[in-house]
Amino acid sequence: MTKLFLPAAALAVAATVSLETSAQAPAGAPVDPTTFIDQFEQTFGKYEGYRRSGAKGICATGEFVGSADARALSTSSAFSGRPVPVVLRFSVGGANPKAPDNARSQRNMALQFNLPDGESWQMGNISAPVFGASSPQQFLGRVASLQPDPATRMPDAAKVKAFADANPEVLLQGKYLASQPVPASFGSVNYWGVHAFGFVASSGARQYGKWVFEPVGGLQGLSDDEAKAKGPSFLFDDLRQRVRDGKVAFNFNLELAQAGERIDSATVPLPAGRTKVNLGLLKVTSVADDGGGACLTITYNPMVLPKGVEPSADPMIAARAAPYAVGLGRRLTEGPKQQ
Ligand code: HEM
Repeated sequence: MTKLFLPAAALAVAATVSLETSAQAPAGAPVDPTTFIDQFEQTFGKYEGYRRSGAKGICATGEFVGSADARALSTSSAFSGRPVPVVLRFSVGGANPKAPDNARSQRNMALQFNLPDGESWQMGNISAPVFGASSPQQFLGRVASLQPDPATRMPDAAKVKAFADANPEVLLQGKYLASQPVPASFGSVNYWGVHAFGFVASSGARQYGKWVFEPVGGLQGLSDDEAKAKGPSFLFDDLRQRVRDGKVAFNFNLELAQAGERIDSATVPLPAGRTKVNLGLLKVTSVADDGGGACLTITYNPMVLPKGVEPSADPMIAARAAPYAVGLGRRLTEGPKQQ
């Protein structure tokens, strides 16, 4: 049975939150999911039918085989060692379905492991080790601060600065992405889960850690000249070609937290040098020819976890569930698309 941890915090109905009130709300306070999606549309634009985040994307399928080390950490059937089918979605960050592939922006890899007995495991991973906010209130405040002024059609620089000065961690994700080259391929960049999750062994022992999917073929970035020459849309064809050549695979690695370390924040990575356990190998085996495919109507909800894997106290995990559902409702009503 799929274990869906109820996103109590995210589902609680909060009063409509304005930028002013959100700045005063406690960091862990819930945000009404409709308020979230409305604010996304006001800040990033409304593109009917598309995901409100990670709009430009493509479906793929793959197979995961868990390792013996993973079996020692967690009872999850994902790690049985038998091949598990996976429904993937690769995407470019942001709400714009025409977001350029040749910018130093975020890439995403979302996965649904189809486990025995109807169990699923869903996750959405990003090409940065940290997210742009540590609480739902802070994320809403940041997105609101970026809303374009109707007169200039640009964000108000003073508002952006005031919010970032008061919440400096909202800049960490962007700084990381700006420091990296443009990824040469969806298959040549790291994807982090950014949240900590608990891995529960048959003894009942619970090990917390943060995961990262690392390309077996290594990292590959483009120089500024190469990126310019590639143009704004090369990632889908590149992925199809690499998968045809059997070259897209990732090690699913878990960095182990030590006792007393901070595991409740998506803006605080584990300290460098933590033991890294290989949980298994993910191979991408096919890529959609067009904007269709099984991923189109999946909303990759990080609360959909298998038995043997549990959320940590990071408030952003549960906070994602309800806005994703509201976003799904809107795009299904509009006619779902992703290219
Ligand atoms: C409360 C905070 C967040 C909100 C409101 C939010 C909002 C959204 C929405 C509306 C979507 C589109 C969902 C759909 O239509 O199916 C989305 C997709 C996504 N989000 Fe978030 N997000 C949040 C936090 C995060 C965090 C912390 C991460 C870090 C891993 C993340 C990674 C992703 C990824 C990878 C996708 C694309 C998944 C796909 O391909 O469907 N999000 N987000």
